[in-house]
Amino acid sequence: MSVMSLSVIGLGKLGSPFAAVMAAKGFNVIGIDKNKKFVTAINNGIAPVPEPQLQEYIRKGKSRLSATMAMDEAVLNSDISFIIVPTPSGKDGTFNNAYVLDAIKEMGPAIAKKKSRHIIVVTSTVMPGSSDTVIRAVIEKHTGKIVGDTVGYCYNPEFIALGSVVADMLDPDFILIGESDARSGKIIGDIYKKTCGKDTVLHRMNCVNAELTKISINTFVTAKISYANMLTDICERLPGADIDVVTAAVGADSRIGKKYLKGGVAYGGPCFPRDNIALSMMARKLGARVDLSFATDRINDYQTERLVKRIEKMFPSGAHIGIAGMSYKPNTPVIERSAGVALAAALIREGYKVFITDPLAAKPAKEALKGKVTIISDIKMLSAKVDMLLVMTPLNEYRVLSARSLGKRKNPLVIIDCWRIFDQGSFGKKATVLALGRGDSFVHIKSKKG
Ligand SMILES: NC(=O)c1ccc[n+]([C@@H]2O[C@H](COP(=O)([O-])OP(=O)(O)OC[C@H]3O[C@@H](n4cnc5c(N)ncnc54)[C@H](O)[C@@H]3O)[C@@H](O)[C@H]2O)c1
Repeated sequence: MSVMSLSVIGLGKLGSPFAAVMAAKGFNVIGIDKNKKFVTAINNGIAPVPEPQLQEYIRKGKSRLSATMAMDEAVLNSDISFIIVPTPSGKDGTFNNAYVLDAIKEMGPAIAKKKSRHIIVVTSTVMPGSSDTVIRAVIEKHTGKIVGDTVGYCYNPEFIALGSVVADMLDPDFILIGESDARSGKIIGDIYKKTCGKDTVLHRMNCVNAELTKISINTFVTAKISYANMLTDICERLPGADIDVVTAAVGADSRIGKKYLKGGVAYGGPCFPRDNIALSMMARKLGARVDLSFATDRINDYQTERLVKRIEKMFPSGAHIGIAGMSYKPNTPVIERSAGVALAAALIREGYKVFITDPLAAKPAKEALKGKVTIISDIKMLSAKVDMLLVMTPLNEYRVLSARSLGKRKNPLVIIDCWRIFDQGSFGKKATVLALGRGDSFVHIKSKKG
């Protein structure tokens, strides 16, 4: 069998790792992007976006990987096109398919010209029901072919997390394929058997089931995070209770599992919050009840409120508060819906003076906060400037803090350790470590508010 050729439309945070992994695994890959910089980067063998292992996989696939801005050229020279373009959330919280539909319109004339059967794959996250309605209609109108017959179609979303996109692609729990016809679904499944191993678990189904599965998985995970955060709040109010002890045991039950069950701060990032809102909005339109999704959101929003209340109990407005960790998770510059930014914004509103540190996300955070925070280069310098320090991401760099690094202080530093990375023992009397989710940390706090 000749080597299959794939075109990848959209070389962003998900598309460029996808193109690189497929090329490294032996497929001929042509990437397409409207952003010339991304196209040039791929053609020069350089990662267009920062992502661990991406550079390595671009190098591995270099002889089979190229990029262009010409949609015709890419489609005519490939058998399958993966569309990985943005689907931003609209005002009502549902995903907007405009970029996906535009990409299909742009590739339509080339597919119409082709004698061989082309397969269009949408990898972008779309609202349940999109494939069989608007997407099918646009494909048929712009290619002149029939979906499931003369043109193949699959909905094939990825389950990846920024920061581990390549690793997640190489070792998925399973591959989700919504298919217009069995022939197309099998071809896509075989691609993953080649990329991820012959034992890769495939879940093949119709498109609406796949669309709902994709959004359900993320929203179930958010419910699990909110559950752990709800338990964290309870533990803090119970002398002797410790969230880590409880979740380690709860997660040992195979019906539950340990992943995403660590109490901490609110979830954020480009996917979780919007997926949960999109599911709620879709269900509402359908007349279905989604109390769990609404509760998940409310619990998530409450996490910032909860921290602000803790701070207000101990320090009056005007106090200097330090926040270590502005990205939505460690080791990324992405600040979208991050707990650190939400906390900073709330504290600024309440009149506190906010100082921040984060090796990658401090600048974008300061921009998002309209310059109303002061960036400090590292956690040691930050601790010298503030009355209270909150650790919002469990970054390894933050673990360097100790009694010695705190130097001379008038009053002990109060640390709210949201991920429990510190021991009180290493700070002696120089700091009071309040670990989120540990009853013994918080139950004795007396109000110092002026
Ligand atoms: N980033 C994630 O963590 C993640 C995880 C799961 C799913 N997704 C989904 O994947 C999709 C893509 O997300 P992303 O984070 O990679 O987006 P991104 O913004 O990083 O990249 C999208 C790229 O598509 C390009 N593009 C848009 N329209 C185009 C067109 N017509 N022709 C050629 N290029 C075009 C843009 O220039 C951009 O480079 C979204 O639907 C998102 O919801 C993303």
